[in-house]
Parts: sequence; C-alpha cells; structure tokens
Amino acid sequence: MKADPKTARINSTITREDRKKKWGHHGAVIWFTGLSGSGKSTLALGLEARLHTQGIATCILDGDTLRNGLCSDLGFSARDRKENIRRTGEVAKLFAEAGFIVIGALISPFREDRESVRHSCVRDHISFIEVFVDAPLEICESRDPRGLYARARSGEIIDFTGIDSPYEIPEHPDLRLLTNQCSSLEAIEELYHFVQEWLFH
Ligand code: ADX
Repeated sequence: MKADPKTARINSTITREDRKKKWGHHGAVIWFTGLSGSGKSTLALGLEARLHTQGIATCILDGDTLRNGLCSDLGFSARDRKENIRRTGEVAKLFAEAGFIVIGALISPFREDRESVRHSCVRDHISFIEVFVDAPLEICESRDPRGLYARARSGEIIDFTGIDSPYEIPEHPDLRLLTNQCSSLEAIEELYHFVQEWLFH
C-alpha cells in the first residue's frame, strides 16, 4: 500500500499512464453550469451517449440525482449549495482519477464554488473545463418542466436560482452554449467536437 505521509492518502498502484493506456485518454471533468431549465441535463445525457459510442468511459453527476442521495441532506441556502458543489467536486475528482470523463451538471450558481472545484482539479493535475449552458431566465422559466419556477414565483419555494437567489455568470467559461439559439442536437455536436479536440489533441 502506498500512503502519502503528509496527507495519509492512499495512492493507487495503478498510475495515470496505466489508465490512459487502457482508456486512450486521461480522466477529466466537464462541468456544466447554468440556470435550472437551461438544458444542462439534456446536454450531459447527449454528450455522454455520443462519447459512449466511441468507447469512452463516462460518468454523469447531475444535481437533481445527487440531491436524492449523496446530497439529500442539503437545501438551497448559499452554504448548502457550497457544500453540494464541494462534495460533487470531490466525487468528480475520484472518478476522473479512475480514468472517467466526468460530466457534472449542476446549477453551481456561485463563481467562487466553481472556481474552487477548478483549482482543486488543476492542483491535482486533473483537466477541468467549465461549460456555461446559457439561456435567458425568461426562456428557462417558460420551459419550467417541473413547475418549480411557478412555485418559486408564488413564494411556495424560496431561494430559487434566478428568482430570489443569484446566479453568477461565468466570466471566462471554456465553452458557452446558447441553448435558446440552437437545437439540443446542435449544442451536443458543438460540445462533442470541443471535447474531442480537448481530450485528444
Ligand atoms: S446547486 O445550486 O446546488 O448547484 P443543483 O444543481 O444541485 O443546485 O440542484 C438544482 C435542482 O434542484 C434544480 O434543477 C431544481 O430541479 C431543483 N431545485 C429545487 N429547489 C431549488 C431551488 N431553490 N433553487 C434551484 N433549484 C432547485
């Protein structure tokens, strides 16, 4: 067993290069941020399907799913969202270290929290890209697939992103997708080609 004496971390005997040899690429984190209803989950699923056909090992970490399990103890205060992003970031790193292309799809409304995941990945030599899934609030609100915006407007749900809780726009995303100006298929294609370039060139 190889333990790091400073951190007591147990390091795998399988190296990154071993994993790269197996998968043909390094593990990495693709982090989608955007309002509820902006299209994050749709794009995450589409990208995953596209990568899967190419034999790439992927893992989706979706906010809605994680909040039913790993993060079910958390609400939507700034503090709880911070913890939600921190936990998800840590899980993303573990999967990326195991060689997966991790696709995170969380509102992650606060710049500082997103940057903290980026820094943590970069510090541990894990590639990280931030994808801003950008759609105007009015569009997201008009989609409202689960009626959450309507409930937030009526005051039934509080701290709802875009209504009474802020969303801090990424200043320098690696990719920005305007999901109200193209079809989801077009957005997935753009994303797929961007990821291909980033992973293999
Ligand atoms: S985050 O802000 O902490 O990143 P996350 O992506 O995990 O949020 O969860 C967002 C999902 O929770 C939304 O897609 C929506 O379905 C649901 N949700 C329930 N209440 C809220 C709320 N107050 N604000 C935002 N999303 C909410």
